[in-house]
Amino acid sequence: MKNIISQTFTWIDSRLPISKLWKEHASEYYAPKNFNIWYFFGSLAMLVLVIQLLTGLFLTMNYKPAADLAFGSVEYIMRDVEWGWLIRYMHSTGASAFFILIYLHMFRGIIYGSHKKPREMVWIIGVLIYLTLVAEAFMGYLLPWGQMSYWGAQVTISLFGAFPMIGEGLAEWIRGDYVVSDATLNRFFAFHVFLMPLLLIALVVAHIMALHETGSNNPDGVEIKEKKDPNGLPLDGIPFHPYYTVKDLWGFGIFLFLFAWVVFYAPELGGWFLEHPNFEPANPLATPEHIRPLWYLTPFYSILRSIPDKLLGVIAMDAAIFLWFFLPWLDRSPVKSIRYRGLLFKSAIGLFVVSFLALGYLGTQPATPLLTMFARVFSILYFAFFLLMPIYTKLDKTKPVPERVTSK
Ligand code: HEM
Repeated sequence: MKNIISQTFTWIDSRLPISKLWKEHASEYYAPKNFNIWYFFGSLAMLVLVIQLLTGLFLTMNYKPAADLAFGSVEYIMRDVEWGWLIRYMHSTGASAFFILIYLHMFRGIIYGSHKKPREMVWIIGVLIYLTLVAEAFMGYLLPWGQMSYWGAQVTISLFGAFPMIGEGLAEWIRGDYVVSDATLNRFFAFHVFLMPLLLIALVVAHIMALHETGSNNPDGVEIKEKKDPNGLPLDGIPFHPYYTVKDLWGFGIFLFLFAWVVFYAPELGGWFLEHPNFEPANPLATPEHIRPLWYLTPFYSILRSIPDKLLGVIAMDAAIFLWFFLPWLDRSPVKSIRYRGLLFKSAIGLFVVSFLALGYLGTQPATPLLTMFARVFSILYFAFFLLMPIYTKLDKTKPVPERVTSK
């Protein structure tokens, strides 16, 4: 029996490079030995991507993408479909978990200088993944056809109307109607379940390919390929399999424990993961009091609202995301890791984190004059982090970087 299995595998392997790929990307892929807790989030993001694809597949089997049926079909999934409540809560919790992990993953990139040469492509593909994820989440949010689904989409799509000349036509083209309607729901469904997931998978594959071309960075920001043993293997590297496959599995365990806690005990998380107005069916005749996106998009929503002119607001909001692409070139520091950077960079990143969190919170609140003033201050700090980066990273007093990684 064993012989038949191994012969079959050899037959396949000589025609399809399975063991070659496994060696290249796992058993003979050398990763730095000093990865810390920040290095869990990439593999966790992959785990959540798989959870979303699987739960999404089962949701699609009972969901109805039609304006008069969508809300009811979600209720049906929650009440009548076997395990439907679990599948739906895993999917809605998975969406927020995805963004928590991605924000931590991006933050890790910045503090250890993983966006810098030679990993610019890894970073750029990462930002493309982020944009795709935003589109995926935005379109998915329309599908339950609740009040916030409807009005959130109505407000967001009408933003395109701010562009002179083409704006109104563009908004109408996106909606397929003069208002958000059945036509909009149908096309968003197609994008959400087909095009965006396909794009995400393709981009994640490209992300890993680009990463394995240069090799991973690490908390010291030292290039491990520069110090090799006589066999040509990096002195500070260890094979990804079994060392990091086992370590990542441990991370999966901790994450799934927390994830299950939210899914079973607090799936709405006080309105942060599932908003209360979305338990009411969409009503085009009654606008909810405060229309806002879910927490993961509120930093950008705050920037939009802090500018009185609609067009300038839209431009600022778009710029706030597009600036991420340029990070590898805005950062002029001679060192990668925050461990060897000076006070200027550390203060800048501290202020940036405070601004991002504050903008996120302010975006969930009504835009009173006082809160709008705060949103303006934090928006300025947000942009200053990027636009002044070439200056403060150059002036910053860095420390000498060690030749080899330190095992802290
Ligand atoms: C679906 C979303 C994503 C998945 C599944 C994913 C997956 C991964 C994995 C598995 C790694 C290697 C392990 C690790 O370093 O944690 C990695 C590394 C990296 N990712 Fe992502 N990623 C995603 C999104 C992003 C985004 C949005 C960005 C930035 C905008 C980004 C930037 C990076 C960078 C710079 C590295 C190299 C880190 C280093 O070597 O220090 N990724 N990613």
